[in-house]
Amino acid sequence: MTKSSSIGQWSSRWMFIMAATGSAVGLGNVWKFPYMTGQYGGSSFVIVYLLCILFVGLPILIAEIMIGRRGNASPAEATAKVAIESNRSRHWWWLGFFGMITAFLFLSVYSIVAGWTASYVLRSLQGSFVGVTPDQISQMFDDFLKDPWQLLLWHTFFMLITVVIVARGLKEGLEKAIGWMVPGLFLIVIILVGYALSTPGFMEGIKFMFRIDWAAIDTKSFLAALGHSFFTLSIATASMMIYGAYLERKAKIAKIAVTIATLDTLVALFAGMAIFPLVFTYGLPHDQGPSLVFKTLPIAFGEMPGGGIIGALFFTLLLLAALGSSISLVEPIVAWLIERWNMRRAVAAWLTSGLIWVLGFAALLSFNYWEDLKLFGHWTYYTFVDGLVSLVLLPVGGMLLAIYAGWVMKRKYSEEELMMPPWLYSIWRFIVRYFSPIAVIVIAWISF
Ligand code: TRP
Repeated sequence: MTKSSSIGQWSSRWMFIMAATGSAVGLGNVWKFPYMTGQYGGSSFVIVYLLCILFVGLPILIAEIMIGRRGNASPAEATAKVAIESNRSRHWWWLGFFGMITAFLFLSVYSIVAGWTASYVLRSLQGSFVGVTPDQISQMFDDFLKDPWQLLLWHTFFMLITVVIVARGLKEGLEKAIGWMVPGLFLIVIILVGYALSTPGFMEGIKFMFRIDWAAIDTKSFLAALGHSFFTLSIATASMMIYGAYLERKAKIAKIAVTIATLDTLVALFAGMAIFPLVFTYGLPHDQGPSLVFKTLPIAFGEMPGGGIIGALFFTLLLLAALGSSISLVEPIVAWLIERWNMRRAVAAWLTSGLIWVLGFAALLSFNYWEDLKLFGHWTYYTFVDGLVSLVLLPVGGMLLAIYAGWVMKRKYSEEELMMPPWLYSIWRFIVRYFSPIAVIVIAWISF
C-alpha cells in the first residue's frame, strides 16, 4: 500500500506509546477502576479484569491500531481503504465513522466529569476539605452538581485546554502536551502510592485488592470487568485507529500494544494502591461507587497532615489523565474533517470541540435543571449517554472491529501488517474471529 503524505507521523515509536497510553489512562483508571473494585468485592474483580484485558481487550486493541496503520488515513477513510484492498465493499467507511460518533458523544459527558476534577484541584489547594464533617464534604459535591454555572465554567475550561492542544497539530500540539503530561501522570501516581505506603492502612488496602477470593467471582463482576476492559483501553472510538495511522510502518504493533495495556493496567493498580490504603486508614466505606473519589477521599484529604497537597496532586492526576483521553477523542474527528472536507486544522478543531462543548450543556444540565427530564422514562442525558457508550457502543464497536480484522481483512494483509511470530498470530486471529465476538454477544445476552 502506498503511503500518502497527507497524514502526519509521530516523531518516534515512544511518542506513539505515550500518546496511546495517555489516551488509555483516563478517568477509567483513576476513578472508575478503583470504585468498581470497591463495589465488586476487590481482588476477585481485579483478577477477572486482568483476564478480560489479556484475552479480549488487548487483541482488539491490536486490531484497531493495525487497521489505522494499514489505512494510513483518517478513520472513515481508513476502514474504507482497508476493506477495498481486501476486495470488500467501500461501505465499511461507516465503521470508522461509527467510532467517531461514539467519540463525539462520549466526550460530551466525559468533559463534565473532567471539569469536576479541575475544580477539585482548586478546592484541595484552598483547603476546602479541612475542618469540615464528612456530611459537609458530601453536601459540597451535591451543591456543586446543582450549580450549572459552576459546571459550565469547568467544562469550558477543560474543553478549551483540549482544543488549544489539538488545534496546534500533531507535533506542536499533541506531542508537546503528551511529552510532559504522561510522564507527569506516572510521577504523580508513584508519589501517591509512596504516600499511601506510609499510612497504617496500607496492608489492609493491598489485601483488599490482591487477596484472591474465588468464591466472590460472579457473573456480575464478569460483565463489569469485560465492559471496563474495552473502556480502559480506549477501544472503538477511532482514537487508537487515528493514532495507529500516525505510526511508522516498521513498528511492531503487538509488542507496542502489550506495552500500552501494561502501562494502563499499572496506572489502574497504582491508583487503587494509592486510594484504598487511605480509605482503610480513615475507616471510610469502600463500596460507595462513583462518589468514592469526590465524596469519600476528600474526607481523608481533610484529615491527613498535608492533605491539601496530596489532594491537589490526586486531582491533578485525574485531570492529566482525562486530558490525554480527551485529545484522543477530538483527534479522529479533526483528522477526518481535514482529510475529507479539506478543512484547516484550527477550524476543524474549534468546530469539533465547539459542538461537543454545546452538547455538554445537556450533560451538565442533567445534574440540575433537567434532573427530572427523563429519556425513555428513566435516564437523564448524562446517564443515558454514559450507559449507551459504555454498555452498547463500545462493546458493539469493539466486536465490529474484531470482525473486521478477522473476517473482512484478508489474512495475508493482517499477517503482513502485524509481523508476529506465526503461533502468536494464529492465537490473535482465532481470538478476533471467534472468541471476542462470541464473548461480547454472550455477555450482552446475559446482561439484558
Ligand atoms: N480509556 C479512557 C479511560 O480509561 C476512557 C475512554 C474510553 C477513552 N474510550 C476512549 C478515552 C476513547 C479516549 C478515547 O478513562
